[in-house]
Amino acid sequence: MPIKRSLDQSNSPAAAKKTKSLVNSEQQKGENLEESLRPNSLAEYIGQSSLKQVLEVAIAAAKGREEPLDHLLLYGPPGLGKTTLSLILASQMGVNCRITTAPALERPRDITGLLLNLQPGDILFIDEIHRLNRVAEELLYPAMEDYRLDITIGKGQGARIRSLNLPKFTLVGATTKVGSLSSPLRDRFGLIQRLNYYEVPELIEIIERTAKLLQTPITNSAAYTVALRSRGTPRIANRLFKRVRDYAQVEQVNPISAELAIKALDILNIDPKGLDQSDRLFLQTIIEQFQGGPVGLEAVAAATGEDTKTIEEVYEPYLLKIGYINRTPRGRIVTKAAYTHLGI
Ligand SMILES: Nc1ncnc2c1ncn2[C@@H]1O[C@H](COP(=O)(O)OP(=O)(O)O)[C@@H](O)[C@H]1O
Ligand SMILES: [Mg+2]
Repeated sequence: MPIKRSLDQSNSPAAAKKTKSLVNSEQQKGENLEESLRPNSLAEYIGQSSLKQVLEVAIAAAKGREEPLDHLLLYGPPGLGKTTLSLILASQMGVNCRITTAPALERPRDITGLLLNLQPGDILFIDEIHRLNRVAEELLYPAMEDYRLDITIGKGQGARIRSLNLPKFTLVGATTKVGSLSSPLRDRFGLIQRLNYYEVPELIEIIERTAKLLQTPITNSAAYTVALRSRGTPRIANRLFKRVRDYAQVEQVNPISAELAIKALDILNIDPKGLDQSDRLFLQTIIEQFQGGPVGLEAVAAATGEDTKTIEEVYEPYLLKIGYINRTPRGRIVTKAAYTHLGI
């Protein structure tokens, strides 16, 4: 059976509420830990050097003019640091960051409520912004362009539009699927920036930083071992580090050695390329049931029992990056490199 690895946000506010009440203390601890590991300034934010340069200039210019930052769209796979960057921007600009996610903005009053509560200069962070509904999106257009909120009062023939002024604010949108954004929305962002997968030396730095914050000594070669298997993603690097740290504690190994890290990651079934059972099952399914492809997304989803969204946004970006699959107009194809890796 595949290990379900789904996106961190649920589909509806109702679902979000439900998950919240079910969060057990272990999960809560995990989330708090993730919060505590977030870098607090651009200087502490490792990697993404060209993006950081762009943002440093934007911050300095906005501060010089005593204006809010331009609206910013951040895109890239999950776990690369989009939410973290938004919080850093707010802290460096000395403003609040209001965080929400598009699926939570179901009714018009969800978004109007947020907009009307903004203080001058605030950052409004909308995660998964490609999932905004039409009404919410249309309310955002004048808000972004003219800091104006157009509310419809009444219904039918008697309906009138009332315009309210909003304080100047910055919208930071985050998405894993920039191609799904409508062009009118995309065009209203002054800055559109992509986050790239991290290189191994950067991941080592992130792991060593985390180890230090958690006061758990780790050798450089152990950090390298974990970094290699982190799929270019800080969130995964931190997660794997925590599992390795648990194992080291039980085995009473200090500092964490490469040998111990390999043992711990082997138990988790994470291979030297960072693929886990679900990735391998995904590749094997295409190979065994579809002769290596091409195969359509829906068909692989049905065969593996994963939803298409998770496949597209979580599994595939990294497999594409390391060249284990190709996307063609006729569907997905598993490459020779993947066959070699799987020993087929
Ligand atoms: N550049 C970075 N340097 C150090 N840690 C990072 C960096 N980017 C992300 N992280 C860590 O990875 C975790 C996930 O980042 P997050 O901003 O939530 O990703 P996203 O919003 O893109 O899914 C955070 O807890 C943070 O500690
Ligand atoms: Mg996020």
